[in-house]
Amino acid sequence: MSVPSSIKKALKGNSYQDFPNDLESLWMPFSANKHFKKNPRIISKAKGMYYYTPSGDQILDGVAGLWCCNAGHGREPIVEAIKKQAEELDFAPAFNMGHPKSFELSSKLSQIAPKGFNHVFFGNSGSEAVESALKIALSYWREKGEESKRILIGRNRGYHGTNFGGISVGGIEKNRAQFSKFLPDVYHLSDTHNLKKNAYSKGQPEWGEELADELDTIIEKHGSENIAAVIVEPVAGSTGVLIPPKNYLNKIKTKCVENKILLIFDEVITGFGRLGKSFASEYFDITPDLICLAKGINSGTVPMGAVLVQDEIYNAFMNKDEKMIDLFHGYTYSAHPLACAASLAALKLYEEEGLFQRASELSKYWEDAIHSLRGERNIIDIRNLGLIGAVELEPMDSKPTRRAYNVLCEAFVNQKILLRVTGDIIALSPPLIIEKNQIDQLIENLKTTLQQTE
Ligand SMILES: Cc1ncc(COP(=O)(O)O)c(C=O)c1O
Repeated sequence: MSVPSSIKKALKGNSYQDFPNDLESLWMPFSANKHFKKNPRIISKAKGMYYYTPSGDQILDGVAGLWCCNAGHGREPIVEAIKKQAEELDFAPAFNMGHPKSFELSSKLSQIAPKGFNHVFFGNSGSEAVESALKIALSYWREKGEESKRILIGRNRGYHGTNFGGISVGGIEKNRAQFSKFLPDVYHLSDTHNLKKNAYSKGQPEWGEELADELDTIIEKHGSENIAAVIVEPVAGSTGVLIPPKNYLNKIKTKCVENKILLIFDEVITGFGRLGKSFASEYFDITPDLICLAKGINSGTVPMGAVLVQDEIYNAFMNKDEKMIDLFHGYTYSAHPLACAASLAALKLYEEEGLFQRASELSKYWEDAIHSLRGERNIIDIRNLGLIGAVELEPMDSKPTRRAYNVLCEAFVNQKILLRVTGDIIALSPPLIIEKNQIDQLIENLKTTLQQTE
């Protein structure tokens, strides 16, 4: 079989081993398929802080894969746990049946969760965690006999995955524009991003807590008796890293409590140490009613999502005929044995290596490093919290998103660093095992990338 020229280019004269022979059949998600297939950026191996291309290039991972490999790559205890589990029990049905690790994992998650979260519902992704949380919130009010409570409130620029519930409460225009159907009865708060007031903030921005008062306006207009839940990301990641202004989340929480509205924290990226604590709820000391998890739950090794559920909510479903299903929702792969085994191993590793504490200790070094880029070409903002950072670029005239996309490609191909870009924002969220010299390398190579990109 002849090797396509785009593949030859990516191989740079190296052997054909490990390389796909056909790029055309795969429709890649959230990708510029045509451009990619002309200039493929293929990753074929990973270990620790690095990815490797088939031609042997070593790529420093600046985003923990996709905000998920918090323990780094190819970690032995997780790999071994997955192998062992595949041998022992490959799959078990999740409906009216159970396997030991699903119970073990839910107990473990409850132990590290904020107080009162003693129940866990499993899915296979962040999107499914969100969908499950929205359904639990809506059905909770029906269980309580308050059926009018069915309005959901999200936030502009919120990212809650790609299913219809998620894009309805989410607020990223591009993710909605191609589709014409959404959940009804959904309203949005403004996002908290304001460069005029908060550019170059270190940590939480000073300005913006008053934006939480918009919730009062929505409640006055629609009536709290009609509102089921508010869903927000404590720190928005995929929309370009939006750090909550000081006191903003507390205000949202207080208003939810005063108006009997459930608060859902979408912690798909903030869970499992990203802010130096198990969860953002702990970091901000705010207890929501439901918490969505995924990604870092097993360090990105096997697809898994979960919802942490407060006792009060779970118990509301438990007072019916014992032989009846209590929640008509679930997935074939809910609490898949491999995902559970991987998660138990990852949680153990996080604990043994003190990785959440490590993230906390590194956060100041991280902050200084990322803010050292101030003044470099095209930058209009830099922001950070925990081990999260973002560099926002001035969009190119009439071609928004193009500049950051160019940066992404240049960074990978020539500077050997993996970044994530959304719009014209570069997001950084390295594995929590990153060393200081690797932070320096990441920032140095990003600086060079920016200097060499139009
Ligand atoms: C806050 C948040 N919620 C949900 C999701 C969706 O997760 P998934 O891609 O696993 O469906 C993401 C993904 O980045 C996310 O950042």
